[in-house]
Amino acid sequence: MRTQVAIIGAGPAGLLLSHLLERRGIDAVVLESRDRAHCERRQRAGMLEQGTVDVLRAAGAGERLDREGLTHHGLELRFGGAGHRIALSELTGGRTVTIYAQTEIVKDLIALSPEGRIRFEAEVLEVDPASPRVTYRENGVLRTLDCDLVAGCDGFHGVSRAAVPRAKVFERDYPFAWLGVLADVPPSTEELVYCHHDRGFALHSLRSPEVSRLYLQVSPDEELAAWPDERIWSELRTRFATRDGWTLKDGPIREKAITPMRSFVTEPMRHDNLFLAGDAAHIVPPTGAKGLNLAVSDVTALASAIAARYEEGSSALLDGYSSARLRRVWRAEHFSYWMTTLLHTDHSADAFARRLQLSHLEYVVSSKAAATTLAENYVGFAHDGP
Ligand code: FAD
Ligand code: PHB
Repeated sequence: MRTQVAIIGAGPAGLLLSHLLERRGIDAVVLESRDRAHCERRQRAGMLEQGTVDVLRAAGAGERLDREGLTHHGLELRFGGAGHRIALSELTGGRTVTIYAQTEIVKDLIALSPEGRIRFEAEVLEVDPASPRVTYRENGVLRTLDCDLVAGCDGFHGVSRAAVPRAKVFERDYPFAWLGVLADVPPSTEELVYCHHDRGFALHSLRSPEVSRLYLQVSPDEELAAWPDERIWSELRTRFATRDGWTLKDGPIREKAITPMRSFVTEPMRHDNLFLAGDAAHIVPPTGAKGLNLAVSDVTALASAIAARYEEGSSALLDGYSSARLRRVWRAEHFSYWMTTLLHTDHSADAFARRLQLSHLEYVVSSKAAATTLAENYVGFAHDGP
């Protein structure tokens, strides 16, 4: 089989790239190891930067997002039993963020894809960036896909990253993980609450007026079995408690999972005719809500670069792809690291470090300059920004 662009992975990165290329009349095949139901069910991100919403809307993938997405103008930082609002829109010249689940973006993009362009249950085994060629297994049969370019959008556990020789890896593990729950209960808050507590971080997010998404900092070796629903609600109530008696509504928990936290970057993001995008090239801890947004901005840039090659015969954008992306990636890496260390409780930290952390939190909520730093990174930069 032959195509112009072989895309590995039907996560948000691979699906959006395929869609953007299709709109420019560029042929692509998406190879995805899992089945469609699995891809559409996987619970993950929920917070979209304005730039991400703009890209999806401009690509004709924003119809349901516009109807069902929840626009937010601020968030709350809570610590010491009190909440402090960060006025995201006021501090960023009117920019907003939108709550719309990654699962829904994936469903929307799959629905827009022409029949046969995405091949589910097709696991890529090998990538040859020189030929270029991708070897995959479908229905137990080994097949090859020849192409002009390969887009490695296969996430952190994919195979394409290994096809970049002499890559440099930068990483950081954290002594925390997140226990995430999806609960059938109306959110107890209108805006997201990022909560620092001596017992650990907690986050109150949402999915809809009827569904809440909540996270608890736990230790990375924590077993899910140790967290029956009642323990989860009780711990959430303790961490979110305020001096003025804020109450957390509880209800049936539909799903729960533990995710480790990690920072990871591989450089460069290109070798020969292979281009990495999204979690295949970089991971951030979820505290800054940057992972999905970075994946979208990677493939937006990659789609333009690929189009310039076919439409104008110019490879300049493809040649500059890795260095331009890495600049943006490292800004998100720094912000995600900063939010993570600002808000989580490192139980091995000494008393001095704990006092510094509290001072930092107080500074962020009392200085307009510090709050603006948080806000402009959180809502995300324009495409020509850092
Ligand atoms: P993935 O979504 O991982 O997709 C990769 C795809 O490749 C998968 O479908 C996989 O099955 C497939 N694949 C892998 N190997 C192969 C192979 N060999 N052959 C074929 N296919 C293969 N980000 C945000 O921006 N905002 C948030 O609020 C946020 N919250 C998060 C909360 C949690 C709990 C977690 C875990 C993550 C969160 N993220 C968030 C991060 C975000 O979910 C990821 O950054 C995003 O999924 C990256 O998309 P991707 O397409 O690059 O990779
Ligand atoms: C989510 O809604 O899943 C979410 C929101 C903000 C984050 C991380 C996850 O920082």
